[in-house]
Amino acid sequence: MKELLRDLRTHIEYQRALTGEALPLPPSASSSDEPSASMPNRDLFGNQMDPTEDPSLAPWERIHALIPDDAPYKDAETLAEVEEYLADTVLVPIDEDRENPVFGVGDPHADLVIVGEAPGRNEDKEGEPFVGRAGQLLDKILDAIHFTREDVYITNILKSRPPRNRNPHAEEVEAHLPLLYKQLALLRPKILLAVGKVAGNTLLDRSSSLSTLRDTEHDFYGIPLMVTYHPAALLRNSQWKRPTWEDMKLLRTRYDELTTAE
Ligand code: URA
Ligand code: URA
Repeated sequence: MKELLRDLRTHIEYQRALTGEALPLPPSASSSDEPSASMPNRDLFGNQMDPTEDPSLAPWERIHALIPDDAPYKDAETLAEVEEYLADTVLVPIDEDRENPVFGVGDPHADLVIVGEAPGRNEDKEGEPFVGRAGQLLDKILDAIHFTREDVYITNILKSRPPRNRNPHAEEVEAHLPLLYKQLALLRPKILLAVGKVAGNTLLDRSSSLSTLRDTEHDFYGIPLMVTYHPAALLRNSQWKRPTWEDMKLLRTRYDELTTAE
């Protein structure tokens, strides 16, 4: 009997993993009759599952679990609270050197969130992401698939400008990435677009080429994630505009599927 129950559990866990759906589980040996909505989920072996890996949790619950417990904004209820924390805090030296923090802009109920790398000079001056030349091109790219900046939410991996626009340092990513996790946990988007290799690789914790990243739709803790060229790269290499257009058409199709599904 015990063995049969275990097999059944294994089968159900497997189905859950496949479908991402929460199916009712038979009670395990130690469970009480209490409803267990807030109980940590168990893996095949009855061990507590890492919540970030648990497909039965909602994406924003998994993403929330990535935020260090000692982050003062972990339980913030609004984006404004997190933005205020950022404005008042120096986490890494680039935060001290910035003119303005660049938190994010757009619709707090957006189904599409766009993630770039880091603010540049214009963004640092205005405190808003993607307002320079690359940003103007991003606006045009969005317009081509019938979005405005107000329809989506735009942010970056880093919230402060690195000097001379150098690539983010590991400790800067480590300090700022949880702020992005918090934004995503509050925004609850249905689809993500990372622009450029740095944003794509950082979110996916990989070090792949842009063409490898572009190749497939990724799974970001349960949220579909697509990667395309960075608009700044398109300004230098106009031959990448055509493949970007292909990516954006696909993004629009997936967006429409995901937002009409309910
Ligand atoms: N490039 C980025 O990655 N982000 C910005 O906000 C501006 C330029
Ligand atoms: N390399 C990058 O880092 N980003 C691009 O968008 C293209 C090539």
